[in-house]
Amino acid sequence: MVYYHIPVMVREVIAYLNVRPGRIYVDCTLGGSGHAAAIVEHLMPGGFLVGIDQDKDAIENAAKILSDHASQIALFQENFVNIGLVLSRLGISKVDGIFADLGISLDQLAQSGRGFSFQRDEPLDMRMDESSGVTAEDIVNDADQRELSDIFFKYGEERWSKRIASNIVKARQTRRIKKSSELAEIVVESIPKKFIAYPQRIHPATRVFMALRIVVNRELERLESFMDKAVDLLNPGGRLCILSFHSLEDRIVKHRIKAFEKGCTCPSNFPACVCGGETKLRSLTRKPVRPTQQEIEVNPMSRSTKLRAAERI
Ligand SMILES: C[S@@+](CC[C@H](N)C(=O)[O-])C[C@H]1O[C@@H](n2cnc3c(N)ncnc32)[C@H](O)[C@@H]1O
Repeated sequence: MVYYHIPVMVREVIAYLNVRPGRIYVDCTLGGSGHAAAIVEHLMPGGFLVGIDQDKDAIENAAKILSDHASQIALFQENFVNIGLVLSRLGISKVDGIFADLGISLDQLAQSGRGFSFQRDEPLDMRMDESSGVTAEDIVNDADQRELSDIFFKYGEERWSKRIASNIVKARQTRRIKKSSELAEIVVESIPKKFIAYPQRIHPATRVFMALRIVVNRELERLESFMDKAVDLLNPGGRLCILSFHSLEDRIVKHRIKAFEKGCTCPSNFPACVCGGETKLRSLTRKPVRPTQQEIEVNPMSRSTKLRAAERI
């Protein structure tokens, strides 16, 4: 698979990660390796990049794109929650920067054949790591109506979640829903026509597909657990830099950084700290950094990106 994903906010990522020669960095979401290639360029001479992605296509692509620097990289098909395990395999205990660019790549959406897009007629899979867990088909056909509606509402902020869930349950009484196009059709038919205005900025099935993808890949819980592990793998002065696209993701990133800044979790009326929680991070971005207007014009997909970064104390 040839990758076409355009990396977002590359200049800002390099600056916030503070990429310097001779240091060690981890790109936890290689995707099309655009950010990874920029990191490698800035860590020379003498630096090292550990590259992780749960999708085997991304790892194969990275091996090609970064082949000129093979001695300065190590690639792993892993979930980024296992970052500690990956580093211990390499005998590395601490690193100088950890980067994650959350969500899905344009290439997974357009050409993975795994049903991420409502515009294609593909099996409803949606697993980024094809060797793990339940598929979107399992959820769409096996979850009860209430669960489906909750998923669409909570993770997709879909206002028609109940109607969509009810129509899915009706449709599956006669057949198993197996294709992305079938699901997209049910979603479109569930939304009253007057609320489907054409031309529109997003397809009516966008939110349902995004919600399912988040649940299939357990994206939010893994993000939280990843951040907790990443913080303890940074050298003092090391940087954590995260790009998010979804408000729920950004909320987690913001709150975890805040919690590590605060350290202590004792109630404010306690005379002294008894929890032993220590301050581990200093936020470098009080407000999330957004792409420039110029970048959004060149790459409209970048428009909802938020960058947050913090430094290990
Ligand atoms: C937005 S793309 C990254 C794009 C990349 N920065 C570039 O320059 O092309 C997100 C990538 O993260 C991967 N990914 C998402 N969640 C992951 C996780 N929990 N563990 C490992 N990889 C993950 C996806 O498979 C996808 O390839």
